[in-house]
Amino acid sequence: MKNEERQKVIDLTIDKVSFQLQEVHDFSWLKEIGEVFCVFDQQDSGNIGFGLAKNNQKFFVKYAGAKPIDYFGNPEDAIDRLLKAIPVYEQLKHPYLTQMIDHFYINNGYAVIFEWFEGECLHSHWSFGGKEKYINPHSPFYRFKHLDINKRLNVLNMIYSFHVFVEAKGFVAVDFYDGSILYDFKDNRMKICDIDFYRKSPIINEIGKDYWGAVRSKAPEEFILGEPIDSKTNVFTMGAMAFGLVGGEMDHSFSKWEAGEKLYEVAIRATEKNRDDRYSTLKEFYEAWQKALN
Ligand SMILES: Nc1ncnc2c1ncn2[C@@H]1O[C@H](COP(=O)(O)OP(=O)(O)O)[C@@H](O)[C@H]1O
Ligand SMILES: [Mg+2]
Repeated sequence: MKNEERQKVIDLTIDKVSFQLQEVHDFSWLKEIGEVFCVFDQQDSGNIGFGLAKNNQKFFVKYAGAKPIDYFGNPEDAIDRLLKAIPVYEQLKHPYLTQMIDHFYINNGYAVIFEWFEGECLHSHWSFGGKEKYINPHSPFYRFKHLDINKRLNVLNMIYSFHVFVEAKGFVAVDFYDGSILYDFKDNRMKICDIDFYRKSPIINEIGKDYWGAVRSKAPEEFILGEPIDSKTNVFTMGAMAFGLVGGEMDHSFSKWEAGEKLYEVAIRATEKNRDDRYSTLKEFYEAWQKALN
């Protein structure tokens, strides 16, 4: 978003961390939770995120109700969306999902506290934006793409097993993309963050071409108003994620694929433009993937 569209940009500092908002906001309540060691203030979600530490514990706080610099909607809408996310985290609690600890109204806004996960976001647009994500050897995405294929396939496996669980719970994934993946390069662990928009099935695309998600992993129906968003949509996203992590991302050619012919065929079928040519469910997709893996 362009600077001139913003009302103002205000600089704030909490503990040793500086960040920006469009309007001053009181965050003195964070003190009780811990000391701020990092901030995510460039989200277009309307939320602002903080990393906090107290004694030997670390937390991630997601807060709606302020005016982040890249957000142009109402803080009230961001609060509504965050409130709707609470039952989603409760019902989809899983070892591969960031763990919610608490949530409450505070200072005309809403705060959700999570356990901190020591991982790096594979789409860290605030530190490696644009091309840098792909070419800078320090970017988490670049480093991930240069990991051994088995480590990357292991991450896909975790992503798929989580989403099979999501499907079994009657939910549809919305806005899942590489920015939802946190990878711990030290211990080779991964967790999914930001499932705020996952919803109970059935749902339809009520937005049109700007429906949630990244262009590089959205299914065709995620660009069309009124289309169903369901398991087949999620099958596409899972296939697109495979191309993202072990292939040529938007380029689905075999020459860019690093995981062999059998898995390639599964990923190609998952990402068919025509919904009815894809696997019907995530369960079916995952079974085919595992069979191809062995
Ligand atoms: N539990 C967590 N532990 C550590 N970092 C996190 C955690 N949850 C989110 N993050 C980081 O904060 C960023 C913003 O969080 P996210 O849930 O995507 O917020 P938003 O709803 O504003 O999109 C993520 O990209 C990720 O890097
Ligand atoms: Mg996000």
